[in-house]
Amino acid sequence: MASPGSPVRAPDHIKSLLSRLHEESEKQEASITPDQYAPVINLYKQDPVAGSKALDELMRDKFIALEKDKADFVYQMIVSSGAKYVVEAGTSFGVSTIYLALGVAEVEKMTGGMGKVIGTEKERTKAEKARGYWRECGEEVESRIELREGDLVSTLASNLETVDLLLLDIWPPVALPALKAVLPKLRPGALVLTDNTIQAEHRYQELLSVLRDPKGDFRSSTLPFKGGFEVSVYVPRSR
Ligand SMILES: C[S@@+](CC[C@H](N)C(=O)[O-])C[C@H]1O[C@@H](n2cnc3c(N)ncnc32)[C@H](O)[C@@H]1O
Repeated sequence: MASPGSPVRAPDHIKSLLSRLHEESEKQEASITPDQYAPVINLYKQDPVAGSKALDELMRDKFIALEKDKADFVYQMIVSSGAKYVVEAGTSFGVSTIYLALGVAEVEKMTGGMGKVIGTEKERTKAEKARGYWRECGEEVESRIELREGDLVSTLASNLETVDLLLLDIWPPVALPALKAVLPKLRPGALVLTDNTIQAEHRYQELLSVLRDPKGDFRSSTLPFKGGFEVSVYVPRSR
């Protein structure tokens, strides 16, 4: 979904960095050949755990950043909903995390208090790179992010405050475990945003059966961004 400009309020050096990182990410993704990707997806269908490992290998040196229009949209969701405590499942080189931190900074300016973004990444080399980019952004971004390194099933299992927004940009087999880890801390009315829910619908089946269950605790819409983007609102039936 194209948009004429960016809604993101940020100093010029951050905007330039984001443009450069999106460009690099797109170039990398375009360079992945069907010969590299197809076997991974096929393996996924037979064995999601082995498929995840193969995907780790293929993507270890890749950004696979959220596209710019989706990242802009996530920023808008944070600012409009006043989200101050945000969790990201899947941080990679930390591009989307910059948008999350900028959104939270905007909310702080409007409502006061301190916000926080919890990032999660299991690859040490990716975490290091992400930290470098956040340093380049400066205090406004760096100071608001707490990166939890390791498998998010463990790193999100404790020490969470009430969560206003959860971004699921993660390999499909970990998506539902990530939601389950955060669920006890999810504030009623919180947003859960999930990337790629049209293109990878069958791989996100377990997660989507929860988010789209008409008798469940989420109200969900699928937006027509590239590959699909799910916006789910947590509306628990029993409180
Ligand atoms: C799609 S990328 C995230 C991209 C990032 N949100 C962005 O827009 O820049 C997903 C990331 O999740 C990480 N990941 C996969 N399984 C994980 C797990 N169990 N715990 C933590 N991170 C994981 C991968 O290493 C990968 O870097």
